[in-house]
Amino acid sequence: MSRIVYVNGAYVPEEEATISIFDRGFIFADGVYEVTAILDGKLVDFEGHCVRLERSLGELKMPMPVTAEELLEIHRELIRKNNLTEGLVYLQVTRGAADRDFAFPKDTPQTLVLFTQNKPLVDTPMARNGLKVLSVEDMRWSRRDIKTVQLLGPCLAKMEAKAQGKDDAWMVEDGLVNEGTSNNAYIITKEGTIVTRHLSNSILHGITRKAVLKVAAEAGMNVEERPFSIEEAQQAAEAFVTAATTFVCPVVEIDGVPLSGGKPGPMVKRLRELYVEEGRKAAI
Ligand code: PDD
Repeated sequence: MSRIVYVNGAYVPEEEATISIFDRGFIFADGVYEVTAILDGKLVDFEGHCVRLERSLGELKMPMPVTAEELLEIHRELIRKNNLTEGLVYLQVTRGAADRDFAFPKDTPQTLVLFTQNKPLVDTPMARNGLKVLSVEDMRWSRRDIKTVQLLGPCLAKMEAKAQGKDDAWMVEDGLVNEGTSNNAYIITKEGTIVTRHLSNSILHGITRKAVLKVAAEAGMNVEERPFSIEEAQQAAEAFVTAATTFVCPVVEIDGVPLSGGKPGPMVKRLRELYVEEGRKAAI
């Protein structure tokens, strides 16, 4: 079914949406993106995504293409035009179209594209059954805190996992887990402590991560922000990942070793419920 998408100020049917072949997003992956979840037709954690977008752009010496208020209105208009109740809004900003040159062009209008994806987020097979993950070497660049559209490393990692009959990959560097291909990674120790890698340039600063850690602390759960190895993860009681696309999603197997009996564990289930409840309440 054809969607209405947003391209540089216009709402158009997806078949009519075009951008230049000289767009630096296409030529150099010179752009950043955000993915925001929609529940009950409302945006989850929108402000966090907006703040991170501005930061990612700033790190690449780009301004916001429109104000935060205008961005909110574009998101809402797309949700309305596409009658979306549950799913995602994808947003991408690039440095715009200019003759190919490694140096940034001056005064080129940025490209701004948004589209919706209609997708169940709450009642999903992934949430019910959990994910099997494979560890792979992290081959991405060193500024993973910037949400750029250069995603071939994660795509290759995901394909390697799929080729081995798994659902996703955890990317490992110097023997320690950075994150999943498109999510942050966590374990819950046998003592009930939630462990996830601390924030740095090595990982994306997940918006869902921030909200989940807050919810966990409010529920009296213990949280430690530090790296962990695959060996430690395989000994853990439970494991999970978080992202705007999956919320809190159980991990039930790591490199062939089952966790929590190969089924989603009780703490992860509880965290997911708490996060979805809070997300719904605070959605705008
Ligand atoms: N990915 N780490 C990586 C590498 C990611 O790509 C993502 C999100 C996250 C989680 O971030 P957040 O909680 O803000 O969604 C962590 C999006 C969903 C994607 O690429 O589709």
